[in-house]
Amino acid sequence: MTNDPLQTLGEFIIKKQDDFRYSSGELSRLLSAIRLASKVVNREVNKAGIADIVGQAGNTNIQGEDQQKLDVLANEIFIAALSQREVVCGIASEENDDFIEIKPTENGHLSKYVVLIDPLDGSSNIDVNVSVGTIFSIYRRITEPGTPVELKDFLQKGIHQIAAGYVVYGSSTMIVYTTGNGVNGFTLDPSLGTYYLSHPNMKFPKNGKIYSINEGNYIKFPQGVKDYLKYCQMEEGDRPYTSRYIGSLVSDFHRNMIKGGIYIYPSTSQSPNGKLRLLYECNPMALLAEQAGGKCSDGFHRILEIEPEKLHQRVPFFCGSMEMVEKAEEFMNSKLNSR
Ligand code: AHG
Ligand code: MN
Ligand code: MN
Repeated sequence: MTNDPLQTLGEFIIKKQDDFRYSSGELSRLLSAIRLASKVVNREVNKAGIADIVGQAGNTNIQGEDQQKLDVLANEIFIAALSQREVVCGIASEENDDFIEIKPTENGHLSKYVVLIDPLDGSSNIDVNVSVGTIFSIYRRITEPGTPVELKDFLQKGIHQIAAGYVVYGSSTMIVYTTGNGVNGFTLDPSLGTYYLSHPNMKFPKNGKIYSINEGNYIKFPQGVKDYLKYCQMEEGDRPYTSRYIGSLVSDFHRNMIKGGIYIYPSTSQSPNGKLRLLYECNPMALLAEQAGGKCSDGFHRILEIEPEKLHQRVPFFCGSMEMVEKAEEFMNSKLNSR
């Protein structure tokens, strides 16, 4: 790879600054803080096997899930990077029960953005050297700058996101994000510690041949999902499709966006709202999917239009290539009464 003709993420952020509706440079600085934190997390993830940072931290988060040491570490890294740079007035994280208020600094700088974050997605994969990720979602606060940030600043519909993205710590590390003008992907050159634009204007293929779902839960799925899975497996036309499930939403989404596919985490008889969290998993992925020509729903309604009620709210999630999601929704709608 010759680096000369490639654009760095830093250059790209500055060039695109004028695209932002409220351009004051603050969003550019916020994205730069995320870029920096992702490099620090990347360093920790890469040495996970040799440092004493794999395994469980010994506590559970508000959702009753065991926290991995790297969940805790990644959370601390992102919160530190974001809270020390006058770029946000509040942060909500999967790993914190409540949102965190970031007070204005002594020089009186008033940040207008809040960030919602899943610092380490797919963390059960960390012990076995499989890709993990980070997901982030950015809103403009709706309360007055200078006043303490409130819950309602975080409980905004996904359509109001100013920017969203993810980092995938995989066979290479990438940051993929949107500010509402398409989706761009940047690959980290680890020798230089610099992200370069490697995947400009990413688009979901309209249709695909991959379905991603934890089929171990099959018996607990709604009838519409069961029927759609049988449709995927039927020998007809371009089917059967291929099943691929990593168990890291970020990685499954990333592959499906490049190759064409659908990711489903439906409701189950035990968890009527599924598993994934609306505010820091589904909404950012939904904005990315739509910006890349894909589709995202709860099986019936557009994810981005759901009115959030709670910080850690869960929602069933169908996301991917437009025609595949539409087909899955058809099956859901035809079995509406046996949900
Ligand atoms: P997290 O590690 O942030 O808790 O998220 C894990 C999520 C998601 O990334 C993944 O697709 C899904 O949980 C996997 O769940 P199952 O193990 O139930 O399939
Ligand atoms: Mn997650
Ligand atoms: Mn997580």
